[in-house]
Amino acid sequence: MWKFLKFLLIFTLFIAAASESAANSWWESASFYQIYPRSFKDSDGDGVGDLNGITEQLSYLKEISITATWLSPIFTSPMADFGYDVANFTEIDPIFGTLEDFEQLLAKAKELGVKIILDFVPNHSSDECEWFIKSAKSDPEYKDFYIWHPGKISENGTRLPPTNWISVFRGSMWTWNDERQAYYLHQFHVKQPDLNYNNPKVREAMKDVLRYWVRKGVAGFRVDAVPHIYEVAADAEGNWPDEPSNPSVADPADYGYLQHIYTTNQPETLDVVYEFRQVLKELDEELGGDEHILMTEAYSPLDVLMQYYGNGSTDGAQIPFNFVLLSNVNKNSNAYDYEQQIHDWLDNMPAGSVANWVLGNHDQSRIGIRLGVDRMDLINVLLKTLPGVSVSYQGEEIGMTDVSISWEETVDPQACQSSIEEFESLSRDPVRTPFQWNDGHKAGFTDSNTTWLPLAEDYKLVNVKRQRGIANSHLNVYKQLQNLRATKTMSDGEAEVKAISENVIGIKRFLSGERTYVALLNLNDDLESINLNDAFGDLTVELEYILVTDKSVRRKGDKIYADSIVMLPKEAVVLGTIV
Ligand code: GLC
Ligand code: MG
Repeated sequence: MWKFLKFLLIFTLFIAAASESAANSWWESASFYQIYPRSFKDSDGDGVGDLNGITEQLSYLKEISITATWLSPIFTSPMADFGYDVANFTEIDPIFGTLEDFEQLLAKAKELGVKIILDFVPNHSSDECEWFIKSAKSDPEYKDFYIWHPGKISENGTRLPPTNWISVFRGSMWTWNDERQAYYLHQFHVKQPDLNYNNPKVREAMKDVLRYWVRKGVAGFRVDAVPHIYEVAADAEGNWPDEPSNPSVADPADYGYLQHIYTTNQPETLDVVYEFRQVLKELDEELGGDEHILMTEAYSPLDVLMQYYGNGSTDGAQIPFNFVLLSNVNKNSNAYDYEQQIHDWLDNMPAGSVANWVLGNHDQSRIGIRLGVDRMDLINVLLKTLPGVSVSYQGEEIGMTDVSISWEETVDPQACQSSIEEFESLSRDPVRTPFQWNDGHKAGFTDSNTTWLPLAEDYKLVNVKRQRGIANSHLNVYKQLQNLRATKTMSDGEAEVKAISENVIGIKRFLSGERTYVALLNLNDDLESINLNDAFGDLTVELEYILVTDKSVRRKGDKIYADSIVMLPKEAVVLGTIV
């Protein structure tokens, strides 16, 4: 009898362990959506989007089956970099609303089953942050919260910055502070002094920020500008080395003028990411419920990004943003280029990690501009049929494009610090314009007669309301893709991704006992005849069209032989096996 009970116990434990490892965490096949709060929806008529605006429109996120939304910064800020210059990490800026507004947003989100992710900016604060003000006064508690240096005295006696380092937003990375009689380091804007991560108090203060918002009910964080968190360690005299220059860039104020070997991707950066994750894990233990996540922003080499996931014994970010489809392909890329980029990520991930695909954000040109206006649906099909997590930027689901903005109307500091000749290649304003809800006053974004950035001229054609009513609009293609993602095959299945010809990418998704799906994307304007049996095994003789776009003549539900499929110019389809 005892023997049998023991067997039963071990057997039950075995089953429990097996099902635990099989159960996916909520984020593993989730659809994320980035909201840029200034431009999503304005509720109080000041021409700037706000938290109540987001709350009002949360049902829209539900309509397009979004699992979680990450919000660009909503914290107190002088807005030198539109919120990425944080003056108080645990307060809401009045332009966006109040803490109560945020709590209401969380409550509504919970009711609808949409998770809220905040933007966490660890690298720097605003120069108007109390910490910096106190640091400049050499307050004993805060004096080492930032990176200060008296500079170098040149041969003719003038004082010079400690190094030749250049800020991401042009010019020296060092600015003189009269009060402290020292230079402070800022990797970005002069109003964004870098925090000193060699100071354990800084690390703890920033971890407290994570704890504060998790306890309020957020599901996790997008972590800003991670590669910039550390600079190389100073030598015994407290000095740093200059960075070597980059022969291809002539302008000595341009960030690209130097190779950033001492100011980005320092090995200590990874430890900070692991420590932040550890904080979340402790909170997971304490609070129970759904796992909290980190999504890190780093435009770093692949081998570095793979370490963001963790180092085997220590966990890192669940979602180190994967920008391969954002940075490494362009309008001229062929199917082999895409295949290679996709495989670079899939084949290099540490065992047990989950892939993610980011196709846009508030810093980069929109899909239509980067990859072609007639490829918008095709790119969304790619994003949504690849395995793992998908991340869309607001407006990409309706095919918003970059809005051309004059020098006079430009507000992005990255552009304003350049010149009338150069600002267009640097400005991020064109992708931050008001969201296009309908064809009414200011596209339904605001009641105001002015908006903080100009509205796109095409809003009467490109808006949510109109696209709801058009069968194969970008919006409806996106919604159908979201429905498809809800199937077991797409959420749990395996993936085979390959170039079928120079123009056609194929993605097969399959799971034992479930229907198989194949997404086909014709990147260019040639007619392509495809024998899918040659490309992928285990298909049924006939396949069914599950999804088509406005480039197709076929309709949903049509059947086709797997060995003779014709793809029209820029067509993207999803086919399913017949079951
Ligand atoms: C990140 C943000 C960008 C910001 C910068 C400095 O790259 O995405 O918008 O300007 O960090 O915080
Ligand atoms: Mg407002």
